[in-house]
Amino acid sequence: MAEVKLTVNGKAATADVDPNMPLLNLLMEDLGLNGPKFGCGLSQCGACTVLLDGEPIRSCVTPCSDAAGKKVTTIEGLGTTKTPHRLQQLFIEEQAVQCGYCISGILLYGKTYIDKNPRASREDIIQSLTGLICRCHTHSRMVKALERYAQEVGK
Ligand code: FES
Ligand code: FES
Repeated sequence: MAEVKLTVNGKAATADVDPNMPLLNLLMEDLGLNGPKFGCGLSQCGACTVLLDGEPIRSCVTPCSDAAGKKVTTIEGLGTTKTPHRLQQLFIEEQAVQCGYCISGILLYGKTYIDKNPRASREDIIQSLTGLICRCHTHSRMVKALERYAQEVGK
């Protein structure tokens, strides 16, 4: 066991954990966050996505030690029910979320991609979602929300 210190959604956090344990376990079990989900545990679906120093990673295969001293942002850190991030609001408006299990990956990869590529085409956006599995098959609505976000970011 080792003490891992990190910042999660803007707050300092410390956990006494096996440093090889997946970061997802620390977030869910030690910090009680339930935004990132356990889907495959094999870096195949994206349900466990969080931002590590601003870049999306798959927390199911990222050891806690990799997050030591870094900033982690989960979907809870993007916005809240009362004050959603603009992209979350667009997902609501487009009714792009069904069960929500995949949504950490779609929102965090999508936001990061469009913030860097605000002139992305519809095809670019679709490509950026490669490897993110939505079992509810609402990708077309998600793409519409992401297109609207890109139009706003690119203004
Ligand atoms: S649970 Fe991490 S990629 Fe599927
Ligand atoms: S909304 Fe259910 S898995 Fe994507």
